[in-house]
Amino acid sequence: MEFNEDIEKQFFEKIKNIKDLSELKKIEIEYLGKKGIVQELYKKIKDLPEEKRKEFGEKVNNLRNIIESSIESTKAQLESSLADLKLSSEKIDVTLPGLHFQRGSIHVLTKVIEEVKSIFVSMGFDVFSGPDIEDDYYNFEALNIPEHHPARDMQDTFYLAQKILLRTQTSPMQIRIMKKLKPPIRMIAIGRCYRRDALDSSHSPQFHQVEGLVVDKGISFANLKATLSEFSKKMFGENTRIRFTPSYFPFVEPGSETSISCVICGGKGCPVCKYTGFLEMGGSGMVHPNVLRNVGIDPDEFQGFAFGWGIERIAMVKYGIPDIRYFYQNDLRFLKQF
Ligand code: DAH
Repeated sequence: MEFNEDIEKQFFEKIKNIKDLSELKKIEIEYLGKKGIVQELYKKIKDLPEEKRKEFGEKVNNLRNIIESSIESTKAQLESSLADLKLSSEKIDVTLPGLHFQRGSIHVLTKVIEEVKSIFVSMGFDVFSGPDIEDDYYNFEALNIPEHHPARDMQDTFYLAQKILLRTQTSPMQIRIMKKLKPPIRMIAIGRCYRRDALDSSHSPQFHQVEGLVVDKGISFANLKATLSEFSKKMFGENTRIRFTPSYFPFVEPGSETSISCVICGGKGCPVCKYTGFLEMGGSGMVHPNVLRNVGIDPDEFQGFAFGWGIERIAMVKYGIPDIRYFYQNDLRFLKQF
């Protein structure tokens, strides 16, 4: 075969349109490989007549040098443009605004629960929690609310099975704890309660209560008053006063509705307390002898007081929140305020 000038032309044609290093590698193998075009040309030399060999060989050498150096320089070009591309795609624009992470915060009810706990712990109370799903026995029966008792009407709830229900109050924790521990008992239990109530600004079918119970020898109403008075001062401010008004709860005797002096007017009367000077917080009283008997505690030996206040109520009074629904709507404009 004669040395063909087209080989060089074709090579430059191919290498002109090259886009990446792998394409270049293919061309390198095609021309400079062991079985490549250049090697084939070298092999031809021995078949040529003596006088033509030198000239032909020089031409092939020349061609090989051209191809080698052109592959070398194309490779360098491709590599530097790749590096440019990498640099420009990875460069950081320090003038762009930073990524903004929203910071979460503790829910106001959780905050209030923690505060209630720490006040009672500072007064020597133990903290317990119990099941949301309760037995009729703990929620009603043992609390001196037998079946068909009219007190059940006010606490209709969600039944999961006969006699298995979502607790309407945290008071069943009184029974659970008295059955488990021996007096002296000084405990609070905080948790969710459920009632078949329509949702409005002051009612929710799901809410929270803090239950308190003290059982020991010689416990009197004075201890109840001192405890709730101390708690209220710590929670709402030193000038807070407490008021007991007679009320009926089957598991206490005497029983009372418990109020604090209005946090807005201090007791003078204003729109927030509806001009009564007081805000109702929940129930309290002396543990009924029947309840003590139900758990095997002798009412002639031990006495107790109990109370059950609403956590939402405490939060609403403390932070001036006008509507109970705000707690559960997850509106950031509300949640961010605490
Ligand atoms: N459990 C009652 C309720 O939800 C509130 C209550 C009243 C709790 C008197 C008590 C208590 O511990 O002594 O209506």
